[in-house]
Amino acid sequence: MTKIGHVEARTLAETYGTPLFAYDEEVLRQKMQEYRDHFQSDSLKTGVVYASKAFCCMAMIRLIREYDMYLDVVSGGELYTALKAGFEPERIFFHGNNKTPQELRMALENKVGTIVVDNESEARLLAEMVSEYGSNVHVLLRVNPGIEAHTHKYIVTAHVDSKFGIAMMNEEEVVRVINILRNCEGIVFDGLHVHIGSQIFAKEAFTSTVEKLFAFAGHLYDAYGIPVRTADLGGGFAARYTDKDAPIPTAEVCETILAACTEANSRLSCPVERVLIEPGRSIVAEAGYTLYTIGALKQTPNKLYAFVDGGMSDNIRPALYQAEYDAVIDGREEEPAAANYTIAGKCCESGDILIESIALPKAQPGDLLVMKTTGAYGYSMASHYNRMLMPAVVFAQDGTSRTVIRRETYDDLIALEVTL
Ligand code: LLP
Repeated sequence: MTKIGHVEARTLAETYGTPLFAYDEEVLRQKMQEYRDHFQSDSLKTGVVYASKAFCCMAMIRLIREYDMYLDVVSGGELYTALKAGFEPERIFFHGNNKTPQELRMALENKVGTIVVDNESEARLLAEMVSEYGSNVHVLLRVNPGIEAHTHKYIVTAHVDSKFGIAMMNEEEVVRVINILRNCEGIVFDGLHVHIGSQIFAKEAFTSTVEKLFAFAGHLYDAYGIPVRTADLGGGFAARYTDKDAPIPTAEVCETILAACTEANSRLSCPVERVLIEPGRSIVAEAGYTLYTIGALKQTPNKLYAFVDGGMSDNIRPALYQAEYDAVIDGREEEPAAANYTIAGKCCESGDILIESIALPKAQPGDLLVMKTTGAYGYSMASHYNRMLMPAVVFAQDGTSRTVIRRETYDDLIALEVTL
């Protein structure tokens, strides 16, 4: 029998219905605490910024606030959610490669602490707006270190065509943009931001990034007198989806990064003062489960399908990235496997497969399938394809559970329609 936050999965399914996103709040808290405990240094100021895109709702943001973390938002919608949750605006970092003038205005009016500028036209627009409104804001510039990391591998490439940031190798452009920012009264230029990818397992990807970024910071100071006081290293820390995944433990990755920063700093004439990281997935992924009810079973010449009452509408990751997941049939976790099942959703799309092949005991209609590690980029990337309803989201802890997002209704679905 599977328990989530010491509540039986079956009880959650009976109480709230399926499909259901259920988070183990104890695991969420433990992950946040780990980052808080281990991203600490004697020689540097540190900060952990939760990348809310991984899972954004007011309940989650309130937890982040409890743990004294900072918050990364990338849109007016994420910003609105954070403000409504009572998150301190000065602790918010506003990212994104194409913030609209309305979003920038919203950030300035609400006194968002830091804006992470992506490109020259955004720098110009922000400088104009700051001067016009007489506002004050801290700014980081996103640069692209030419390191791209994907899952187990990391590659160093020129990668000049990324849509994010300005390539470090375009030094002139970087300096020009920093000067636009530094010449604007009201903007405090704090430093640089990088983010090299997601679901990264290789320590070297992080240490190489630190080395490159700090060396670049040193060069900006020595050659142009530009002090880089803050280095924001982005997110990308892996989560464990299946037995094949072995993420670097949080304590180890934090210590490795900070050791690399201290070492790199010792070579700089103007040392970096503050280091930030922006974990998203690694905080929420493993705490999250999706509960589905198995409906029809279908044997084709080569496949045995178990259909569930959700699918790509609540988890696009298998279809989009061939992401792999693990699952159990509740109550039969210890039974030997009887067959290899393909777990498919109910959307009208052949690619709506949640798990391509998984060995499970004999499944029956009505069984509860518990899919694990669905806490990151599941709900946040959910869609209304086929007018599927957004599942409810619940948090469970110490044997009790609470709804944090109610299930959508059919009336919600048509609520935006203007009928004449
Ligand atoms: N900071 C920045 C600037 C980012 O762009 C991201 C993620 C993060 C932090 C957090 O990265 P994390 O720690 O979660 O890896 N939808 C994809 C993941 C896209 C990540 C985009 N940026 C997926 O489902 O795998």
